[in-house]
Amino acid sequence: MKLCMIGTGYVGLVSGVCFSDLGNDVICVDKDLDKINLLKKGQVPIYEPGLSELVVKNYRNKKLKFSTNLKKSIQESDIIFICVGTPTKKGGTSADLSQIYNVAKEISLSINKFKIIITKSTVPVTTGDEIERIISKRNNKNRFSVVSNPEFLREGEAIRDFTYPDRIVIGSNDLKSNRVLKNLYSPLISKGAQYIHTSRRAAELIKYASNAFLATKVTFINEIANLCEKTGINVEDISIGMGLDKRIGSRFLRAGPAYGGSCFPKDTKAITSTANRFKTDLSVIKSVIRSNENRSNLLLSRVYEILNKKIKNKKITFLGVTFKANTDDMRDSSSLSMIPALSKKGAIIRYFDPTGYKKEFEKIKNVSFINNIKKSLIGSDLVIIHTEWNDFKSLNFKQIIKGKKFIIYDMRNIYSPSKIKSQGFKYFSIGR
Ligand SMILES: NC(=O)c1ccc[n+]([C@@H]2O[C@H](COP(=O)([O-])OP(=O)(O)OC[C@H]3O[C@@H](n4cnc5c(N)ncnc54)[C@H](O)[C@@H]3O)[C@@H](O)[C@H]2O)c1
Repeated sequence: MKLCMIGTGYVGLVSGVCFSDLGNDVICVDKDLDKINLLKKGQVPIYEPGLSELVVKNYRNKKLKFSTNLKKSIQESDIIFICVGTPTKKGGTSADLSQIYNVAKEISLSINKFKIIITKSTVPVTTGDEIERIISKRNNKNRFSVVSNPEFLREGEAIRDFTYPDRIVIGSNDLKSNRVLKNLYSPLISKGAQYIHTSRRAAELIKYASNAFLATKVTFINEIANLCEKTGINVEDISIGMGLDKRIGSRFLRAGPAYGGSCFPKDTKAITSTANRFKTDLSVIKSVIRSNENRSNLLLSRVYEILNKKIKNKKITFLGVTFKANTDDMRDSSSLSMIPALSKKGAIIRYFDPTGYKKEFEKIKNVSFINNIKKSLIGSDLVIIHTEWNDFKSLNFKQIIKGKKFIIYDMRNIYSPSKIKSQGFKYFSIGR
C-alpha cells in the first residue's frame, strides 16, 4: 500500500519506517527541510535504538522516501497518516491543534482520488469531526474517510512497541476504511496484536485515558514513596507487593522524579481541558497533574537538605538529563526545572548525557556539559542520577574517586543503598 506520513518526528518517522519494513511504499514528509535532508543522507535526527539501521535499509531498497512536498506526497498515496505535534497551548492547558488543522487544510487542497486520512497524533475527542469538516469544505465526503488510529509506542522502545503492540485501535465510522486498515496491520495482528475497531471519538479518548492512567500510576507510587521515606519503608517492597496483584500489575510502579516527556504532561492537561469543555470534572487527573508539578520542588528541597542548605558554589553533577533513558527527548524533563533552580541558588552544574549536549541549558548560568562520565564526576560535591541509562548502572564510584567522596542522590534507585554506603559514600535515593 502507498502511505504518506505527515510529520517525520518520533511517531511519524518510526511508524513510517516500520510500515516500509513491512513491505509498504512510504513517503515521510516534513516541513523541516534540514530534517529531510539529513534523512536523505541516511542520518537520523533523533536518538532511537535500532531506527538508523531500518532507515538506511528501507531507503536503500526504495520502500521509504523522504520529501518536503506535501501536495505531491498526498497525491501519490492512498493512506495519509497525520503525525504532527499537538503540544499544550502556550499559557493554557488545552492541546494546540494548529498543526493538525493546517495539515487538514493542505490535505483538502490535494485530494485527487479516494484517501483514508488517519490521525496518529494524539488529539482530543471531536478533532476527527473537525478535520472531516475542514476537508469536506472542498471535497465530497465520498472522496475521503477520516479515521483515528492513536499511537502507543514509547520512545526508547519505539521499534519494538510498533512491531509488537499490545493493541491496534482503529476509530472509524466507515467499514471500508476499517477493512483496509485491518489488512495494513495484518502482519502485526498475526504476531498477536489485538485489533480493536471502535468509533472515532472512542479511539481518540482511549489514547488520552491510557496516558492519564499511566501518569496516575507513576504519580501514585511517587506519593507512596514520600510516605515510605517518612516511615522507614523501602518503596520497592511496596511496588513488588502491589505489582504482583494481577489487577494492579508491576509496570509503571517505580518511584522516581516527576514524570516528563512529550506525552504525559501535555496529555493529562489536555484531557482535563477537554472534560472542562464538556462540563465534566476529571478531579483525579487534575490532582495527578498538581502532584507531579510539585514533585520537582519536593526533590529539590531534598537536595537542599542533603547539602545542608548550602548550595552556593556546590559542584553538582547530573547523570542523564532527558526525561527517561534511551531517548534524546528533553520535552518536559524534570531536569529542565531542577537545573535552573539549582543554578539560581549558586550551584555549579555539570551534566553528562549519553545523547550529548543539550541546547536547553545554553543560557543557564554555570551549567556545562562534560562528554565523559568519569570526568563529570571528579570534583563533585553531589552527583544526581537523574536518568536510568544502562551506562550509569554499574559505575565503580570508589575506583573513579581517589580523593574527596561525593554524595550520591540516586533518583532512579539504581544502586543498592547498603553496597554504596559500604564504599564510604553518603547515598540517598527515592522512597527507601
Ligand atoms: N513521542 C512519542 O513518544 C509519542 C507517542 C505516541 C503518540 N505521540 C503523539 O504523536 C504526535 C507527534 O509526536 P512526535 O513526538 O512525533 O512529534 P515531533 O515534534 O517529534 O514531530 C512532529 C513533526 O511534524 C512536523 N510538522 C509539523 N507541521 C507540519 C506540516 N504542516 N507538514 C509537515 N510536517 C509538519 C514537524 O516539523 C515535526 O518534525 C503528537 O500528537 C504526540 O502526542 C507521541
